[in-house]
Amino acid sequence: MLHPIKSYLYFLWNSKNQHGVHSPFVYNLVTKCFYDTAKYPEYAVLKAYRNSLLANKNTIEVIDFGAGSRVFKSNTRAINQIAKNAGISSKRAELLFRIVNYFQPENILEIGTSLGLATSALALGNPKTKIITLEGCPKTLNQCQLQLQKFNINNVTPINTEFSSYLTTQNLQPTSYNPQPTTYNLVYFDGNHSKKATLKYFELLLPTITNDSIWIFDDIHWSKDMEETWEIIQNHPKVTVTIDTFQWGIVFFRNEQKKEHFVIRV
Ligand SMILES: C[S@@+](CC[C@H](N)C(=O)[O-])C[C@H]1O[C@@H](n2cnc3c(N)ncnc32)[C@H](O)[C@@H]1O
Repeated sequence: MLHPIKSYLYFLWNSKNQHGVHSPFVYNLVTKCFYDTAKYPEYAVLKAYRNSLLANKNTIEVIDFGAGSRVFKSNTRAINQIAKNAGISSKRAELLFRIVNYFQPENILEIGTSLGLATSALALGNPKTKIITLEGCPKTLNQCQLQLQKFNINNVTPINTEFSSYLTTQNLQPTSYNPQPTTYNLVYFDGNHSKKATLKYFELLLPTITNDSIWIFDDIHWSKDMEETWEIIQNHPKVTVTIDTFQWGIVFFRNEQKKEHFVIRV
């Protein structure tokens, strides 16, 4: 438990705001999106979506995937506890909404749906965006689907699958028949926070990148393992700009940018 605290102190020491950011691309992103203080009407929908989950004391039997929970001891879990412990915070959901609203990606892939707290932010950020979201636990995904219907969110395709089996069976590699594989303009990695799995998803998805792809990795400082993963991703030759917001590592593949790593307080 000491690890995240040490990492956060290190982050606070190294992080900055827009001052001293010379890249116009990153400067604009920080000032016009990260620090955008407008009160979007969609924030009220995100809040209502969360509150309805927090009010739901029903329990479901979950199948536990990924790197394991530091909170739950049993697989019978109350919906409100899952929402409280496994989902994105309100502040970050609003930031995710603004990122989608700012970049207007056409296709989004979310790896790790849970109850859809982040999915709803991705979906409301641009109603024209098509979102595919992956979740291994069928009962959790079912709750998410009910919730999306309740809030009339229709631009999401939830898929019940183990992550690697989905990614390995999709048409992600270019072939002579299909030289341009599936493109996701934004990928949100939020499940199975282990080094091995994250690097595997990273490699599997690399053929889908374009110059404008945005990849967001959650919990990059969750453990030593994830910090090593983040360092490997930053050093990858295809990666140019990265932004560490402590909770997230945001990755860009823009050829016109020199390789540069930013540590930004949001
Ligand atoms: C942290 S939660 C996602 C939270 C969600 N993005 C949000 O902000 O509300 C991670 C989810 O990924 C699922 N998961 C983890 N590893 C998985 C795997 N290997 N295959 C399929 N689902 C997995 C878990 O069941 C869990 O619901």
